[in-house]
Amino acid sequence: MKDCDLTVRIGKMALKNPVIVSSGTFGFGEEFEDFFDINHLGAIIPKGISLKPMMGNPPPRIFETEGGILNSIGLQNPGFQEFIKNKLPYYRNLKTHLIVNFFGNTQKEYIELARRFDNIPGISGLEINISCPNVKKGGIVFGTNPQMAYHLVQAVRKATTLTLIVKLSPNVTDIISMAKSAEEGGADAVSLVNTFRAMAVNIHSKKPELGNIIGGLSGPAIKPIALRMVWEVWQAVKIPIIGMGGIMSAEDAIEFILVGASAIQIGTANLINPKAGIEVIHGLRKHLIENKINHIEKLIGAFG
Ligand SMILES: Cc1cc2nc3c(=O)[nH]c(=O)nc-3n(C[C@H](O)[C@H](O)[C@H](O)COP(=O)(O)O)c2cc1C
Repeated sequence: MKDCDLTVRIGKMALKNPVIVSSGTFGFGEEFEDFFDINHLGAIIPKGISLKPMMGNPPPRIFETEGGILNSIGLQNPGFQEFIKNKLPYYRNLKTHLIVNFFGNTQKEYIELARRFDNIPGISGLEINISCPNVKKGGIVFGTNPQMAYHLVQAVRKATTLTLIVKLSPNVTDIISMAKSAEEGGADAVSLVNTFRAMAVNIHSKKPELGNIIGGLSGPAIKPIALRMVWEVWQAVKIPIIGMGGIMSAEDAIEFILVGASAIQIGTANLINPKAGIEVIHGLRKHLIENKINHIEKLIGAFG
C-alpha cells in the first residue's frame, strides 16, 4: 500500500487529517511558520477570544512539573475586534481550517460572540470553551453544571450555523452527563479535555509556583485520565469526539482514536517540539500504511 486516506469529518468540516493544534498552545499560528508548513494541519485553533481584551493573570504563569506543565495564563487575548482586524486576515490565506475558540463571562456574551463570528468569512468552526480553570468566570460555571451547559449550548447553537464544538472540562465528577448535555443542546462535536486544576509549591520561599496559585495541568501526566474520559464519552454520545490531553506522538494520537476520537488536538507538545503537529501527521500515515489500513476512520473506536 502506497498511501492512505486521513480525512475525517467534524460537523460541516472535512479535515484533510485528524490533527488539530489546540487553543493557547500554538499562538496565532504564524509563530510556527518557520518550523513547518502549517497548511498541512487538519485545523488550527488559536488562543481563546473574548468580547473585550483580557490581560490575563499575574506572573509566573507557567511552571514545569514532572510529565507536564502548569499554566495560569488566565485567557489573555486581544479581544474580538482586534482579532478580526489584525489576526483573521492571516488565516484567510491558509489552506487549513480555522476553528475559533471563544468564551464569555455570561450566556449573553457567548451568544453575542457566536453571532458575530457567524457572519465572518474565513472561519470554519467554533469551539466554545466552557472549561477554563484559570479565570473566575471564564466559562467554568457552565462547564461543571450539565443543566447550565445544556441551556448555554442550545442558545449558542441558535446563534450560529458554523460547526459547533463544545470543549469540556475534566474537572467534573461525571464527564458523561456533560457530554450528553452538549449533544442534546445541539453541538456538532465535543472536544476533551481541557486542563486539570492543579498547583505547585516552592518549599524554600513557601510560596506557590504560580502567581495565581492554582493553574491547569496539561501534558503527558494527564494522558491516561484524558483517554479514560474520551472512552467513556464515546460510549455515551453519537456526535464526533475530538480527543486531547498529553498527546506527544502519533502513537498517543492513535490511542485516542482507538477509544473513539474522530480527531485529536495537540497542545503542550507544541511548546516542547514545535514540529509535533507535522510529526504526528507523518506518524499516523506511516502507521496506516504499515498496517495496511486504507482509511483512518477504520481506527475510530476500534478499541476492545
Ligand atoms: C499555555 C496554555 C494555554 C492554554 N489556553 C487555552 C485557551 O485559551 N483556551 C482553551 O480552550 N484551552 C486552552 N488550553 C488548554 C489546551 O488547549 C488543552 O486543552 C490542554 O492543554 C490539554 O492538552 P495537552 O495536554 O496536549 O496540552 C491552554 C493550555 C496551555 C498549556
